[in-house]
Order: sequence, then C-alpha cells, then structure tokens
Amino acid sequence: MDATPLRVFTEEQQQIWRALYKKLIVRVEKYACQDYLTGFELLELPEDHIPTLEYLNERITPRTGWKCVHTSVRYTSADDWYPEFAKKHFLITDYIRSWEEIEWTHEPDMFHDIFGHLPFMTLKHYAELEEMFAPAYLRATTDEQKENIKRLAWFSTEFGLIRENGERKLFGAGLISGAEELDNVVQNRVPVMPFTIENVIQYDKAVYTHNKQLFEFESIDALKTELARYFDTI
Ligand SMILES: [Fe+2]
Repeated sequence: MDATPLRVFTEEQQQIWRALYKKLIVRVEKYACQDYLTGFELLELPEDHIPTLEYLNERITPRTGWKCVHTSVRYTSADDWYPEFAKKHFLITDYIRSWEEIEWTHEPDMFHDIFGHLPFMTLKHYAELEEMFAPAYLRATTDEQKENIKRLAWFSTEFGLIRENGERKLFGAGLISGAEELDNVVQNRVPVMPFTIENVIQYDKAVYTHNKQLFEFESIDALKTELARYFDTI
C-alpha cells in the first residue's frame, strides 16, 4: 500500500466510471441522506474521469485528517483493513467493475470506495463515527467480537438507513454505489428493523447476494451511542 496516485486507467474504465456516475447521481440526489449530499459538494467528484488520490486527499485530509491510500488488493480482509483504518488510512482499490456488473457487483470496487464512501469522509462528525470501529476491532479478543463488529459496520456504514425529517434516507456506501440494491430499498422491497446491537448481530453480512434485512437509525449521534454501548464492553 502506498500513497501514489491511482494508476492510469484505460478509456474503457473511464467510460464505466462515467456510466456509473450518471446512473447513480440521479438516485442519490433523491434518496441519499443530507450528510452524503453535503460531503458530495465538498468532494467535487468529477463526472467525466476517475479522480486521482491527490485530488481526493486535497479535499479530505484538511477537513478530517483521513487520507486515501492505494491498495491493489481487491477485497481487503478485516484483519488487514482495520490496522490501516486505525491510522486514518482509507484504502481505495484500483479495480472497477465490468459492464455486466453496472447494476450490481458483490465486490467493493473503486467506484464504491470513492463515490459511496468518500463524500462522507469530508465531514468531521462522520469521520468520528468511522474512527470508532478500528480501536474496538483491534481490542477484540474473540472471533465472535470481531464478527459482531464487522456486522455492525456492514449494516451501518455499508448498508445503513437513516431517518431524516420523518423520511427514510440512504446512508450506507453499498446502497449509494449500487443501483439495483438501491432501487429495491427505495421501493420498500427490503424489510427494515431498528438498528440495535441485538438486532444487527443476528444477521450475516450478505456478501454475495442482496441484503435480505436492513437497519435504520435516527441520526449519526444515535448510531454512535448504540455502537458505543457494545464497543465499550470490549
Ligand atoms: Fe465499503
């Protein structure tokens, strides 16, 4: 892992970026939570090309102290991911999905990392949420604790939903960066439960399929309070 800019992408990869951006932007403008939209403006993501890490870090690091770091690993395991997270390094893969996967991919690619997560990483109160996970994971001594932390991250920062002015809005980066699953959720085809530790840890992460159950919290502060209730026991 290093901080060099993303490698030079092929024209086809740039076309895939443009197609994904075009497909998702209309959806997120309508369904994403306000924090995402605020961060999106601050990040100034280019519509017509894949941004460099330098461009991204210029907009993220001064605001939150986080830094995007290149990884050539396509699906980094939690044991490798969280030590980097603890250093406020956000790993960005240089893989992008194929044309066949435009509607849905099980793999978190560069579009997911950048478009789904990074707008949030311009916001201090969101960065502080992300900063809760790594210390808890690194303190965990049992596989059960580690799995619970992974599920709590999955069903919040990856696939969480948030209430805003009485409405349900998209919070998780996996929903924000994946049209097919996003459409299912906004059309109420996925059951939603309150985000509590006890509810969430019963459910496996749906890595290779759509999620069959999702969870909703009232605010980022409420999510932090709920997570702390478990992390403080580790
Ligand atoms: Fe992600």
